[in-house]
Amino acid sequence: MSATAESIEATQDASLDSLLKDIQSLEALIADWDEQQRNTVTALIQAHADLNKAAFARLIRHLKTDDAVLPLLREAVTDEITYAVLRHHGILKPTLQERLEDALASVRPYLESHGGDVEIVSLNPPDSVEIRLLGACDGCPASSLTLSEGVEKAIKQYCPEITSIKQAKGGIGAKPVDGVKVNFVSPFANGEDAGWVFVCKLETIPEGGIKIATVNNDEVLLSRFGNKVTCYQNACAHLGMPMDMGEVNNGILVCPHHGFEYSLETGECLTAPEVQLITHAVRVTHDRVEVKLS
Ligand code: FES
Repeated sequence: MSATAESIEATQDASLDSLLKDIQSLEALIADWDEQQRNTVTALIQAHADLNKAAFARLIRHLKTDDAVLPLLREAVTDEITYAVLRHHGILKPTLQERLEDALASVRPYLESHGGDVEIVSLNPPDSVEIRLLGACDGCPASSLTLSEGVEKAIKQYCPEITSIKQAKGGIGAKPVDGVKVNFVSPFANGEDAGWVFVCKLETIPEGGIKIATVNNDEVLLSRFGNKVTCYQNACAHLGMPMDMGEVNNGILVCPHHGFEYSLETGECLTAPEVQLITHAVRVTHDRVEVKLS
């Protein structure tokens, strides 16, 4: 076999990964060149890419004129290298799954900055998807806002054909603490065991009322609804002023300064729904209430 034939065969057998690694090492090599040299190489690469793109586009357009070839064409693009190259050139449009992943990737930095994440549970083409909020976002009082304002908006922007977005429950569950079952882990808990601070016994928090506590020099407001405890920064979402002197009626806290009202169960602001209280993670083990600042 000639050297050229051997080289062609080796390239045909190469994996996408190894071919991409070759490209990356060459890119790393020219990264140190001076600007003019780099610009020349970049222009050369672009010229080759344009030529290849035009050739692929013509070839596919031609093949598509024969209905008998279409199944073969569809099969051919399932090959990872063929697919990657045609996608790279924009000849193949991104699949629904890819666009969905792009949509979630666009909101992930925001979710991660709050200790949360999102994952696809199932994609049911052509129009429905089930997703799950994870970590801090799972069960968060603001999760409906996160879902509607963040995740749903992004999905609809990237995948306009999706009309049904369902939210699956149950991201990271409560982990046992020293072998003891934790009966409640609040919203912003992220499943890690470090950083929890004991604040008080469960029974000292008034049902539907507030108890003030200090956690690592931060003042927080605790409230209880049955076995569920919520914890918020003692700072009004209006001007950040403390609210522990505010009136509480039926689980609604009224800021003593300008009267903003908050649901102690969810942290939502009833006066200006676009804002909310800063929520901290709470876990209750037996009767011990522990808080982790978010
Ligand atoms: S500071 Fe609370 S309503 Fe203005």
